[in-house]
Amino acid sequence: MFTDTHCHIYKEYYENIDEILKNAKENKINRMINNGCDKKSNSEVLELIGKYENMYGALGIHPENVEEYIQEDIKLIEKQLNHKKVIAIGEIGLDYHYTKENKEKQKKLLEEQLSLAEKYHLPVIIHSREATEDTINILKNYKTKGVIHSFSGSLETAKIYIKMGYLLGINGVITFKNSKLKDVIREIPLENIVLETDSPYLTPEPFRGKRNEPARILEIAKFISELKEISIEELARITNDNIKRIFDI
Ligand code: NI
Repeated sequence: MFTDTHCHIYKEYYENIDEILKNAKENKINRMINNGCDKKSNSEVLELIGKYENMYGALGIHPENVEEYIQEDIKLIEKQLNHKKVIAIGEIGLDYHYTKENKEKQKKLLEEQLSLAEKYHLPVIIHSREATEDTINILKNYKTKGVIHSFSGSLETAKIYIKMGYLLGINGVITFKNSKLKDVIREIPLENIVLETDSPYLTPEPFRGKRNEPARILEIAKFISELKEISIEELARITNDNIKRIFDI
């Protein structure tokens, strides 16, 4: 049985969430971590983890929402962290893809949420796009651990994150024809990775272009088990041990 360590199961993407979870179970995915991005999705995550036994939650403000969030939203997250099934702070991070103009604001938002993680001893789920250097420099200042979500950097960058105690979140990108990620993962011990879908985005081959869902972890798992020449069962065991170490589930 596998765990999807990063998805966005919100009503705006899925009209029938019961079915998405049923489909996941039929494909050997028995747990998932639903990640919030802003005040609205955080409250939806809370609602859904109350309803579905096998769904856990991560709450956070995503860097793409840096212009919309207000200070009250962070205070609200802090209050909501006492929920038993909220197991991480995420999705948080830095994203310079669309604009670098609000860099300082993004950094401040990330730092604030890392402080929360430190205060409440919670792991973090980090989004970093075109911002590797700043991400590393900021994470160095905190005693946090967690996952570098959707990792797609170089072997050198992978080694830096691993040395800092982070796991690499690997998703459908590794199955894409032009992706160099497989060359990196070939060199990395499996003790350093977790599997994720980032649903509804980043659908693995051969379903690329369709809406993603947690059931597709199995496609990513098959790809990695072939790449690393181990059985699917062994991959499940190792990645679940990694999850247990970081998230305590
Ligand atoms: Ni995400």
